Amino acid sequence: MKLSAKLEKAFNDQITLEFEASLVYRQLAIEVELLDLPGMAAWLRHQADEEIAHANKFIDHLLDRDNRPVIGDVPAFKSTAKTVLECFQAALEHEQRVSEAIRGLYRQTEQAGDLDSRPLLNWFLSEQLEEESTVNEIVGRIDLTNGDGPGLLRLDAELAGRPLRTTENA
Ligand code: FEO
Repeated sequence: MKLSAKLEKAFNDQITLEFEASLVYRQLAIEVELLDLPGMAAWLRHQADEEIAHANKFIDHLLDRDNRPVIGDVPAFKSTAKTVLECFQAALEHEQRVSEAIRGLYRQTEQAGDLDSRPLLNWFLSEQLEEESTVNEIVGRIDLTNGDGPGLLRLDAELAGRPLRTTENA
């Protein structure tokens, strides 16, 4: 069933936010690469790609429902992070913002009695829980190193070797 114009706009806002998330991660990957932590940079870069896949899921949903996906203006992300800890804290803040947006979208569709979007939004609710938890754990572990070089390098190697997540196939 086709979404109302109001819900179509809400989904399009989410599409734009997912592209914004991708740019945030991509810039943070650059910042971390500049700090000589290529493993963590690769992890962030992979996240950037994953955000585009998220946007595509929403785009496909609108197309499936005979609505019109439109990618809005994506604001530039200006990183002020000076340390790797601040980079991952910025990533966490953005994930929290995305989670709140998904919850808002869920509430709007519920209010409208739109059952067709529920499986997609349930998937995103779980995805956000997982993403926030993962980034939060990385922030905590970076904090534990207290800027210690060998500790950071160990974590860098670990994140470089992390198997890619398979949520896109879920
Ligand atoms: Fe698509 Fe990381 O939220």
